[in-house]
Amino acid sequence: MAEIEKAIQPIIQVRNLNMFYGLTQALIDIQMDILPRHVTALIGPSGCGKSTFLRCLNRMNDRISGAIVRGEIFLERTNIYSPDYDLALLRQRVGMVFQKPNPFPQTIYDNVAFGPRVLGLVSNKIELDDLIEKSLIQSALWSDVKDHLKEDAFSLSLGQQQRLCIARVLAVQPDVILMDEPASALDPIATQKIEDLIDELKKQYTIVIVTHNMQQAARVSDFTGFFWLGELVEFSDTSKIFTQPDKELTETYITGRMG
Ligand SMILES: Nc1ncnc2c1ncn2[C@@H]1O[C@H](COP(=O)(O)OP(=O)(O)OP(=O)(O)O)[C@@H](O)[C@H]1O
Ligand SMILES: [Mg+2]
Repeated sequence: MAEIEKAIQPIIQVRNLNMFYGLTQALIDIQMDILPRHVTALIGPSGCGKSTFLRCLNRMNDRISGAIVRGEIFLERTNIYSPDYDLALLRQRVGMVFQKPNPFPQTIYDNVAFGPRVLGLVSNKIELDDLIEKSLIQSALWSDVKDHLKEDAFSLSLGQQQRLCIARVLAVQPDVILMDEPASALDPIATQKIEDLIDELKKQYTIVIVTHNMQQAARVSDFTGFFWLGELVEFSDTSKIFTQPDKELTETYITGRMG
């Protein structure tokens, strides 16, 4: 597999990324290539910088006061940290799904319609209806909600809410989907649905997922990065990370011998 992968150009290239919250350094000199239409998992103990790293990929840390980012992140060869990079475009191309489903207090329909309306992606109601149906089909929610589109999003189960949040991201036609522990608030069946969905979505999208669940990382991802104290200790094929990692620290972590 490694030989084939070398022929694919990365969609994201992270170079010399250092990130600080005030005087505290949260990420130390990270380098990473993320391949398109693959799943990259980020693992590591609590507080090691996984969410911070994920937020760097669509500049969500910009909103945190005192946050300073040094280095470069190229999205298809353009540095998203260059001063003239269009932030609205970045957030459209690189969407985010959070640990706790966070639908808007609106109808199911309006939740998915939000992005396309704001960005002016559609010119009439028929196009919008089509886009909403397509996004809900892609997020494996359509059959559950097609007769309830005007109901409040909070009438859905937690797992359905999370798939609604995924539909909301898909509706703006992104290239990359960032997921920060997207299933950790869900029961095993809802978790399974999210994992199946990730498997389906990677045919078309690039997915970067943070997870605390080693089995989940091993099941859903093609590549895995192990973070520890703000450093990317090891990044490799998922099968290699979980069977014969290069670093002892990685082995200690994945075998559960570290807290
Ligand atoms: N908004 C913030 N302001 C200041 N420090 C922060 C902020 N967010 C995170 N940190 C610090 O940055 C470091 C990395 O945190 P981060 O949330 O990225 O870790 P994580 O790997 O996602 O952890 P977890 O697995 O618990 O979600 C921690 O030391 C944390 O306390
Ligand atoms: Mg986190």
